[in-house]
Amino acid sequence: AKPLIIDTDPGIDDAAAITLLVDEPAFDIKLIASVSGNVGIGHTTNNALKLLTFLGRRIPVARGAAAPLMRDNRFATEAHGKSGMGSFEFPEPDNSLLTANNAVLEERQVLMESTEPVTILTLGPLTNIALLLATFPEVKSHIERIVSMGGSTERGNIGVYGEFNISVDPEAAKMVFRSGLPITMVGLDIGRKAHLVANDLDALEASGEVGKMVSSLFRSYDGGHIEEGIKMYDPSAAMVLIEPELFTMRSAFVDVEISSPITLGATAVDYDGILSEEKNLDVCVDVDVDGFRKSFVDRAARVQRQ
Ligand code: BDR
Ligand code: CA
Repeated sequence: AKPLIIDTDPGIDDAAAITLLVDEPAFDIKLIASVSGNVGIGHTTNNALKLLTFLGRRIPVARGAAAPLMRDNRFATEAHGKSGMGSFEFPEPDNSLLTANNAVLEERQVLMESTEPVTILTLGPLTNIALLLATFPEVKSHIERIVSMGGSTERGNIGVYGEFNISVDPEAAKMVFRSGLPITMVGLDIGRKAHLVANDLDALEASGEVGKMVSSLFRSYDGGHIEEGIKMYDPSAAMVLIEPELFTMRSAFVDVEISSPITLGATAVDYDGILSEEKNLDVCVDVDVDGFRKSFVDRAARVQRQ
């Protein structure tokens, strides 16, 4: 199994994405790093711990950045609830999973000690990863690739063109995108397309305790507007790792707007060399929606508490 680090701000859809990966035989989750995003760092860290405690998986959790590099926090409690995990009753977190050191140090250690290159999945703002690459550039040669939920090839959610994870810490995203590492961007447009419907939640609910947890989280997601379809942002990025055949990729030069107040956090996706820059990202441009839904429900339903 390939070593994997998940950098995340749980977050309802983050929790679902992590759940998809805990039993995936192709990957071995070495570390879950929290970052401030949907809610504050205390909550995102606690939510990661609670989820793992509920699932009964002993994966270390490292507490990460408490704020973006240059900007104030902006939370998304309207979509994820005050604590960031809706109203599902998780057990008290097992704090023995919490690492002694901060996320950047723990990520560095996992990367440097791994005998094979490590995949990084990011489901929140890129603050930790920007700090990691700037502080310990020697880790770069130990990274296989970064798969990142963030950005958009179309419109945004917290700006006209700005997606949440990128817009919350646009400087961090810009640094990571310029790192020269192999990066796959799974943007908002993919998560919007790869949606679940109410029937899928019913199937999950009937499947067992873990399915019930996932469906309960999603019933309160985004204010509970499930009739419009439940957007699968972070689970799409997880699925790119698990079942890449479901997605279509295209390489592009992607950069992040960091100065305009009108388009702050926008991801400019240049497929055609208009900006005369070398291509730096693989951009996910399409998803097989039926295949995704079926796979998501099947996989989440199979996960058992341990
Ligand atoms: C992203 O923002 C968060 O609210 C979600 O968890 C996802 O990572 C979508 O813009
Ligand atoms: Ca997230």
